[in-house]
Amino acid sequence: MEYRELYRMALRVKENAYVPFSHFQVGAALLTEEGKVFTGVNVENSSYGGTICAERTAFVKAISEGERKFSAIAIASSGGEALPCGICRQFMYEFCPEIDIITGKDETSLRVQPLSKLLPEGFRLETE
Ligand code: THU
Repeated sequence: MEYRELYRMALRVKENAYVPFSHFQVGAALLTEEGKVFTGVNVENSSYGGTICAERTAFVKAISEGERKFSAIAIASSGGEALPCGICRQFMYEFCPEIDIITGKDETSLRVQPLSKLLPEGFRLETE
């Protein structure tokens, strides 16, 4: 799938964001290595710390469906280019340190960066 199309999916889904507090809508579209797309939005909560970002929503949906291998995630917001927060960077690092992060203020100015650039030397526990 073209990254521009993935970004368009993030743009569309951001309209479903639940953002009564910040009014900052974010949409994410996560592409698996096999070419499936899982979307997500930010879901805020009266207890602010309970808020989940669009990126993690998309990942949690995909992981829950058995997916483990991801190649790219596009992020779109109602307020210009949005780069993933620190918690989301660490969350994504668990599964795919080299995933392409696609951001931009609109589809004509996309930036593609590997997660390892946004989170150098991320933390992972060794598993057997
Ligand atoms: N947010 C995301 O969903 N993703 C990002 O990359 C940055 C921040 C959300 C969290 C909160 O609902 C709102 O944007 C303002 O921080």
